Amino acid sequence: MPRGVSQLSSKFKDPFGREITYLRLSVTEQCNLSCFYCRSHPGECSRERETGKDLLTIEDCLTIGQVAVELGITRIRLTGGEPLVRPDILEITGGLAALPGLKDLSLTTNGILLEKIAFKLAEAGLKRVNISLDSLDEANFRQITNGGKLHSTLKGIEKSLQAGLTPVKINVVLLKGINDHEIEKFVRMTIDQDLDVRFIEYMPTQGQKKWSNFFLPLEKVLEVAERIAPVVPVEGEHGGGPAQYVRMKGATGKIGLISPLSRHFCDRCNRLRVTSDGKIKPCLFSEAEIDLRPYFSDKEQLKAKFYEALQIKPDPQKVATNPVDRVMQFEGKRSMTQIGG
Ligand code: 5AD
Repeated sequence: MPRGVSQLSSKFKDPFGREITYLRLSVTEQCNLSCFYCRSHPGECSRERETGKDLLTIEDCLTIGQVAVELGITRIRLTGGEPLVRPDILEITGGLAALPGLKDLSLTTNGILLEKIAFKLAEAGLKRVNISLDSLDEANFRQITNGGKLHSTLKGIEKSLQAGLTPVKINVVLLKGINDHEIEKFVRMTIDQDLDVRFIEYMPTQGQKKWSNFFLPLEKVLEVAERIAPVVPVEGEHGGGPAQYVRMKGATGKIGLISPLSRHFCDRCNRLRVTSDGKIKPCLFSEAEIDLRPYFSDKEQLKAKFYEALQIKPDPQKVATNPVDRVMQFEGKRSMTQIGG
C-alpha cells in the first residue's frame, strides 16, 4: 500500500498515543487591541510587517485546512492576533467550512468587530465563537486593552447569540489585582444567559520574570461562585477542550476553569497550531516549529511536515505539575498574539 494511503486510514496519533483532531490556525498577528499581558511590547499588535510576504493567503489557509482534514483533523479554530481584522475573513471561513469531513469551525475574537459581521460569519459556515473579555468595567477594559471599548465587545456578544454562533464562550484571563475583583460580575453572567464563562490562568508565554505578580490560581473563582449558589460539576464536559466545567445551581450557562499552570492538561492535548506566517507548532510552550511555506504546492510533502510536527509533540509525563516549575520549562519566544493563543 502506498505510504500516504496507509497513513490516511490510521488515526492521526502522536508518539504518546494522543489523537490529534484539532487545529488552531492563526490568520494574522495583528490586533485592534493591545492587551498588556498578551503582547511582548506595546507596538506589536498593530505592526504593519505582516502586509509583507509571509502572511498566509486565503489559498494557503485552505490548503492547510484541506491537508489537515485529510489527516484526521475534525475541528479547526481561526485565531490571531484578531482574526476579524483580516478583510478576507469571510472567504477564509467559507472555504474552510466547505471542507468535507470538517465537523467544527470556530473562531476566537475580542469581539470588537463582531457586531457587524456575526451574521455573515454564521452564513459563511462558522459554527461558534469564543470571545475574550477581561473586564466588565469600561475604564478597566480600556486600561487592560490599551484603549478598547467595552461596549463594542458586549454588542458583539449579543449579536453572536442572535446569529446562533453558539455555544458562545467568554474567555477571561484572570489577573491578580487587575480583574479578580470582577469575578462575581463574570460568574453572574451565566445565571440567565446561555454563555459559558471560562477563566484562564495567566501564562507567561515568554518567560516574563514578573508573571507571579499577576498569576492567580482559579480556586478563587469557585469560592466566589459558591457564595452566590451551590456549585455542581458538569459531567463529561471537556468536549475535547482544556476547560473543566461547573454550573451554579439553577444557572443557564456554565463556568469553565482552564488551568494550564496549576493543573495542566497535556495528557489530553489534541491539537496542533499553525502561525499566520506558516509555521506549524507542536506545542504552545515549546520553541519548536516547522516551516510549511516551502511545501504549499505539494500536498504530500505538506502532510509529511504535519507528521513531523506530530512526532515532536512533547512528552506529557515530563511536564511539571506545579506552576513555578512549569514556568521554568517554557521555551517559547513568541508572544501569544504571535502564536494565536
Ligand atoms: N495567558 C493566558 N491567556 C492568554 N491569552 C492571551 N495571552 C494570554 C496569557 N499570557 C488568551 C486571550 C484569549 C485566548 C486565546 O488566550 O485572552 O482569550
